[in-house]
Amino acid sequence: MKKYIIGNWKSNKRLQDAKEWLESLAAFPEMHEGLPDKVSVICPPYTLLLEMKLLIEEKGLALQLGAQNCSPFEMGAYTGEITASEVRDLGEYVIIGHSERREHFHETDELLATKVSLAKAAGLIIIFCVQGKDTPIPEGVDIVAYEPVFAIGSGTPDTPENAESVAKALKDRGAAIVLYGGSVKPDNIATFTSQPSIDGALIGGASLEAESFLALMKNA
Ligand code: PGA
Repeated sequence: MKKYIIGNWKSNKRLQDAKEWLESLAAFPEMHEGLPDKVSVICPPYTLLLEMKLLIEEKGLALQLGAQNCSPFEMGAYTGEITASEVRDLGEYVIIGHSERREHFHETDELLATKVSLAKAAGLIIIFCVQGKDTPIPEGVDIVAYEPVFAIGSGTPDTPENAESVAKALKDRGAAIVLYGGSVKPDNIATFTSQPSIDGALIGGASLEAESFLALMKNA
């Protein structure tokens, strides 16, 4: 089974930062050949997707793109929203249900289920974040990311044993691919990805530096 290394930049990086990040990554031969059995995806702010897509193609990098969110509506009069089909022009993946969206933007299970169905219809690969083993998971989700709130950005990850037991429970509920996320770094990623039910990691802070992102891919 392939290991998924998915970076979530959150609200970080401007155009020049993203270009420099890709330049640094392009200096590593592994990024052109691709690492065996690894799938690497970066989810930048929407504003960077087009330029990054063009640069990834130009440089021939083994890197895929995704968005961090999508609208719960189809195209139309919804000022400020970006639809799943608009995302699909630029990337293959979308993160839905991150705890920061649930907390700061009051996204409910019902709203998230609507986003999932629109993302599915648009042909996106859906990475759905859950905060525990019992979080509702809508029909149509492709990848489930277990992200305990205490571990996000705190420097204190869950234990690999507990992450494995939650991942196993999520697989028992029908999840095909399960990731762990929350304070994953190059020096601890293997303790998670070596667990039998964990197929990769969703990474915030440690994906912001190109060298660290490459180390995550190598070590996973
Ligand atoms: P972190 O964030 O790696 O910075 O803890 C993970 C996430 O929120 O996806």
